[in-house]
Amino acid sequence: MPVFMVMLGAPGAGKGTQAKQLSEKLGLPHVSSGDLFRENIKNKTDLGKLASSYIEKGDLVPDDVTISMVKDRLSRPDCAKGAILDGFPRTAAQAKALDAMLEELGYKIGLVPLIEVPESVLMARLTGRWTCRENGHVFHTLFNPPKQSGICDLDGSELYQRPDDTPETVANRIRVYQEQTAPLIEYYEVTGVLEQIDGNQEIEQVNQDLLAVVPSVD
Ligand code: AP5
Ligand code: MG
Repeated sequence: MPVFMVMLGAPGAGKGTQAKQLSEKLGLPHVSSGDLFRENIKNKTDLGKLASSYIEKGDLVPDDVTISMVKDRLSRPDCAKGAILDGFPRTAAQAKALDAMLEELGYKIGLVPLIEVPESVLMARLTGRWTCRENGHVFHTLFNPPKQSGICDLDGSELYQRPDDTPETVANRIRVYQEQTAPLIEYYEVTGVLEQIDGNQEIEQVNQDLLAVVPSVD
């Protein structure tokens, strides 16, 4: 049975960091809506142009375009085994659309890890983050420094600071998370798939805690 997981948590909680590691360990694709938008921005597509006007302010991109972008990604053959979703869903409408997409395929969400980190930690995590251009691997100047400054340890590509990682935009992203995404915690709690994970520990420890609750992938 394919395993579909949704990584839930505030901006900076470590969703991308953990999803990347789980993806390699479990052999499941990492489907990040933020990465898909950034790829569109890099390629200057119409979707990229539309998305960037929201992303640069830290607001959510409208549901209709976001849902169809993710639906398109999940319909690719590599998702037949399941996927690790990161950054999607972020609204009640997106959560319902995801349930419908999976139901159409005869699947359902197996696990929703909620990575919990105190709000006071998020700002320092994001303003010190460096992201790799090629594959979105993430580092941190203090908490997870690359071996060579400015270069990704994993694929040698350039590291850059995301334009939406400024203090003002981060503050808005946290607000938007509280208002629009945090209600999904209850949505997944009632279906029994939510697992609380302490995200305020070493990256490796968070990863161990996640692996302990992941259903087996065949
Ligand atoms: P997105 O790219 O999803 O950003 P986000 O949710 O704001 O999350 P982040 O990527 O900032 O945080 P993360 O939890 O992945 O943390 P990370 O692992 O990097 O979305 C960007 C924008 O796109 C949104 O604002 C919105 O505009 C738009 N968008 C995307 N999806 C959308 C949707 N579904 N609907 C509408 N709009 C959408 O870690 C952060 C830092 O902390 C790193 O430097 C890392 O090295 C460090 N770190 C990680 N774990 C630890 C640890 N355990 N200890 C110490 N440091 C750690
Ligand atoms: Mg991320």
